Amino acid sequence: MRLSALTIYALSFAGFVIDGAAARSESSDAPRVSFVRDVAPILVGKCQGCHGPKTAESNYRLDTFDLMMQPGDFGLPPVTAGSVDESEFHRLITSEDPEERMPNNGDRLSEREVASIDAWIAQGATFDGADRTASLRTQIPRDVPHPAAPANYSSPLPVTALAFSADGGRLLTGGYHEALIWDPATGQLVSRLGNMPQRIYGMAVSPDNAYLAIAGGAAGVAGEVRLLAWADGATSGDAAKVLATGEDVFFDVAFRPDGKELAAAGSDGSIRIFDVATGVERLKVSNHADWVTDISYSADGASIATASRDKSSKAFDAATGRMLASNSELGAPVRGAVFAPDGKAVISVGGNGARMWKIEDSTTIGELPAFQGETQAIVSHGDNVLAASADRSVREFKIADRTQVRSFGEHPAWVLSLALNETAHRLATGCFDGTVTVWNLDDGAKVTQFLAVPTVTPPAK
Ligand code: HEC
Repeated sequence: MRLSALTIYALSFAGFVIDGAAARSESSDAPRVSFVRDVAPILVGKCQGCHGPKTAESNYRLDTFDLMMQPGDFGLPPVTAGSVDESEFHRLITSEDPEERMPNNGDRLSEREVASIDAWIAQGATFDGADRTASLRTQIPRDVPHPAAPANYSSPLPVTALAFSADGGRLLTGGYHEALIWDPATGQLVSRLGNMPQRIYGMAVSPDNAYLAIAGGAAGVAGEVRLLAWADGATSGDAAKVLATGEDVFFDVAFRPDGKELAAAGSDGSIRIFDVATGVERLKVSNHADWVTDISYSADGASIATASRDKSSKAFDAATGRMLASNSELGAPVRGAVFAPDGKAVISVGGNGARMWKIEDSTTIGELPAFQGETQAIVSHGDNVLAASADRSVREFKIADRTQVRSFGEHPAWVLSLALNETAHRLATGCFDGTVTVWNLDDGAKVTQFLAVPTVTPPAK
């Protein structure tokens, strides 16, 4: 008798052991492990960075099921179906020798992750996806939750994403598989929002304070744009909609000022526009030749400005996606771009500079005074802009004559990210070393400074 797929599913669901001798040694009431739901997310998240299409250590790739089952330079089959003890996978993920253990970066899989992989091998190492030769990432169902955030961080993460809630009452930073929600008055952690991509590179709360949008992923492996109901962090990340996924990270998200549309930018060079109420992608514009790292709307919501690693900053019609203008005169990857208040010019930062250019003919109007280090981010503030730099400064300029108005104090490291809230009169700056500083926009005073980690445990010895 040939078992139909449905029968096999029914039998395995009922707890019958169908994988023969090997599985009998395992407890027959162990829950059935699914490759695509339980194992593939671990391999994509923890292994593919070193064993994928871009980097294949030991000539071994595991970015498709077929590749994963073939040996690399060692020549030993990675998985022996039904036998945990004979499987290289088991030996490598449980080795006590850090030189040998996988992942080979000092990290180790959690007990739960090891148990899932072992159980899958013991249960016969079967493939339950649609295509053995397709990328593993595309085989993982979208509703599979991300791994849990670590309880403690062994070291702080660079603050790559920073956002205020619309009322300014909360400040959000990107953590490891989570968003961290802070009280910007005291620097106290309010809550942790899990089920997030490995790293978050862009975040925004909608103007009506109803939604939180997240752009992130695992570099070179996976990326996503996530939208969730926002109620000062009281909602769980599980209620999120995944609006887009990709083979590499998404860098930024921005709500149209009326809150009805969301624009996202990613490493595939595209910008995408989604309807916020339905989550449906309305427009995808593939125009940039490299990563789009920053995206923002004009005050009237009619145009979008982008910054790209392709050394250009561009402006697009937000309704049709038509390119309006492009300026490459910074001569370096562009890190940030915002509109002047009248929507007729863009101020972009990158390299050691910042320049203002006209949408009408793409030409440069003028430069902002030079920085001592690479400029990293820019935000607008009424008739002014604030730019952050690797020279550890954040400086405010008047757009009209491009003169410096003031500088926001000393930072302990490169300033990577900025967030500004006009309602609460607050500026937040995020540094490479994990430090977040909140400033009072009225008098430039420091309100609070803290390390954006839930708890830091000192590194072993
Ligand atoms: C930081 C990079 C890195 C990560 C992450 C990593 N590996 Fe490796 N892996 C290596 C290196 C380097 C080797 C070769 C080791 C050697 O030569 O001793 C290797 C070898 C292997 C091999 C042997 C391949 C062969 O030659 O036949 C397997 C199997 C393997 N890794 C599985 C994994 C799994 C499973 C994970 C995730 C749990 C993982 N690796 C994560 C770097 C990594």
